Amino acid sequence: MGKSIIIYGSTAGNTEFLAYTILQHLRNANRDVVIKNVIDVVPGELHQYDELILGCSTWENGSMQTDFGRLYKSMLFMSFDGKRFALFGRGRRAYGHFCQALDTLENALSERGAQEIMPSLKIDGDAAQFEHEIREWSHSVADALAEAHR
Ligand SMILES: Cc1cc2nc3c(=O)[nH]c(=O)nc-3n(C[C@H](O)[C@H](O)[C@H](O)COP(=O)(O)O)c2cc1C
Repeated sequence: MGKSIIIYGSTAGNTEFLAYTILQHLRNANRDVVIKNVIDVVPGELHQYDELILGCSTWENGSMQTDFGRLYKSMLFMSFDGKRFALFGRGRRAYGHFCQALDTLENALSERGAQEIMPSLKIDGDAAQFEHEIREWSHSVADALAEAHR
């Protein structure tokens, strides 16, 4: 049985809200998922999980949310062979570099052997307006996890 974790980095709480919404959908679909704020994660812990569901917002000029940036630096020295991942986050198109942090994470994980489960969920602005999209994305992730754990 694979183990899955949601790890989120969120400065103003927007991606955190998204993370807990996704958690609820995954649990409703009977997926056993742990959730952690990235500030409570030590890099070595990532090896305990088969599926990494990572949430990160994007800040100035497309940079990664500060707390997540710390984990990311360690990730560059790790191998993710055999692991699978899905990414989500909040951004604003108006700032440019829309949700670029997710693209940065995607490249890093792919280059280090991990396989992407689903295209990244990029939410522009208020998550409440994207309820349907968030539910659909979560259910697709849940299906992919169920498939792997069969
Ligand atoms: C100063 C500033 C710079 C930002 N830069 C970007 C950016 O380059 N790209 C983007 O997609 N969103 C950008 N945003 C939007 C944030 O990602 C958005 O406010 C998001 O909801 C923050 O999520 P969090 O509360 O989970 O950290 C920026 C916001 C601020 C206030």
